[in-house]
Amino acid sequence: MQAKPSMKICCLGAGYVGGPTMAMIAAKCPHIEVRVVDPNAARIAAWNSENLPVYEPGLYEVVQSARGRNLFFSTDVEGAIRISDIIFVSVGTPTKTYGVGAGQAADLRYIELAARTIAKVAEGPKIIVEKSTIPVKTAEAILTILRSNSRNGQFQVLSNPEFLAEGTAIADLQAPDRVLIGGESTPEGQAAVEALASIYATWVPRDRILTTNLWSSELSKLVANAFLAQRISSINSISALCEATGADVDEVAHAIGRDSRIGPKFLKASVGFGGSCFQKDILNLTYLCKHFGLPEVASYWESVVRMNDWQKSRFAARIVNDLFNTVTGKRIAVLGFAFKKDTNDTRETAAISVCRDLLAEGAKVVVYDPKVSAEEIRKDVLGDQQNPNLEIATSALAACADTHAIAVLTEWDEFKTLDFDAILKVMHKPAFVFDGRNILPHQKLSAMGFRVHAIGKPAHPLKQA
Ligand code: NAD
Ligand code: UGA
Repeated sequence: MQAKPSMKICCLGAGYVGGPTMAMIAAKCPHIEVRVVDPNAARIAAWNSENLPVYEPGLYEVVQSARGRNLFFSTDVEGAIRISDIIFVSVGTPTKTYGVGAGQAADLRYIELAARTIAKVAEGPKIIVEKSTIPVKTAEAILTILRSNSRNGQFQVLSNPEFLAEGTAIADLQAPDRVLIGGESTPEGQAAVEALASIYATWVPRDRILTTNLWSSELSKLVANAFLAQRISSINSISALCEATGADVDEVAHAIGRDSRIGPKFLKASVGFGGSCFQKDILNLTYLCKHFGLPEVASYWESVVRMNDWQKSRFAARIVNDLFNTVTGKRIAVLGFAFKKDTNDTRETAAISVCRDLLAEGAKVVVYDPKVSAEEIRKDVLGDQQNPNLEIATSALAACADTHAIAVLTEWDEFKTLDFDAILKVMHKPAFVFDGRNILPHQKLSAMGFRVHAIGKPAHPLKQA
């Protein structure tokens, strides 16, 4: 099937992936009608408003360029399936919290429900595209559900994992390192691969569109995330050694990154990686390894998550330790709550674990984040509980008032240029700064009188010869 002028496509799931990805296709391909559908009416209403549910630089402009022309957001899931030639599935695949594989395996209930809905409604030929990150061999399960439940549908299932990162989603979609498409090796499978490839080829150079078999494509997504997360855990493990020895982790990262075989990216030591995917995808990978009888491989990848958990708790413990071994009753400002800058996403953010650890020690924690709502922060840290020791501030300066320490947990640009003279005046002395992102001017702050602790930095830098 070729990308014909009247082609209609839809996407089940209007989340962080479905919304931006489909908006980019619609913006680049005015000849294709794109529907993004989701049963979550509030989310769809937000996509149709000025206030999009996902904060992402440049996203609003892309949405606005196509919305109402060839890009539509609606809750009519079945209607969209019925009229579409290509159906993307971009529903969540969180870690399973119950039954067999709880805490590790991917929860595929949303994928299965999507497949069953497609099977019920579809008539004629349809290409189903797995956009969600799923375990290897999920395409087989989807095909079995489709083919055994549909009366008139003819289906091809493709794997087309998404590699965008939040905060840079629009740049990533605009100029991806690669687009990966996996399909069956049959003539029908290859025709489906070409139909999807021809959509991306509207703006992505052909040599960046990689085609593989289904299982390679599905597995490559999990492996890409595992390798990225492994680099962060590796440099974070070295950050602890730097603190113990007097080496500087940024200098070490720079030195090793100059080796072209290692490369400079993803070597920024931090309070720990967050985000909805790294942990869940590694746990999913380890579950698969165990399932296929490879416990050594599972344990190798599991250690990446263990190191990340340790880094988060090590950071909170360092705060308690430096504040004379007690934070009970002390106010601590947490600057940044999102799992990285330029997103309002807080899923698995390191800030949740650091805030909880500090609250458990009896601290009063005051959080400020430029894009995350107070309601979200409370829900993430406390769940259904109440705790008056958690406060939310509306500016960084307000958060720092009357505190003993500041902890920077997200690398928002605005934190780099804060008025530290003003901040020092409103803090208790000695005033501590714990930079979990290594973005602040440490020497300047030390000279001003702050006691600075940064990830992987010597406590008392050696005087340069
Ligand atoms: P999300 O939770 O933000 O969005 C998923 C949406 O799917 C929800 O709004 C939900 O209501 C909807 N949904 C559930 N069942 C549905 C159905 N039957 N029909 C229509 N809609 C349905 O999730 P996300 O962050 O967009 O991630 C989606 C997938 O993409 C996951 O598998 C994730 O691993 C993968 N992924 C995410 C990112 C990212 O940056 N967030 C990047 C690459 C890949
Ligand atoms: C990651 C991958 O980068 C994407 O390719 C992938 O598509 C996506 O997961 C997914 O599957 O969901 P994302 O989680 O949005 O993207 O953001 P990243 O830039 O990868 O950052 C993840 C976490 O690692 C953040 O908390 C970030 O602060 C941290 N990080 C990143 C570091 O601590 N150090 C680094 O050097 C890089």
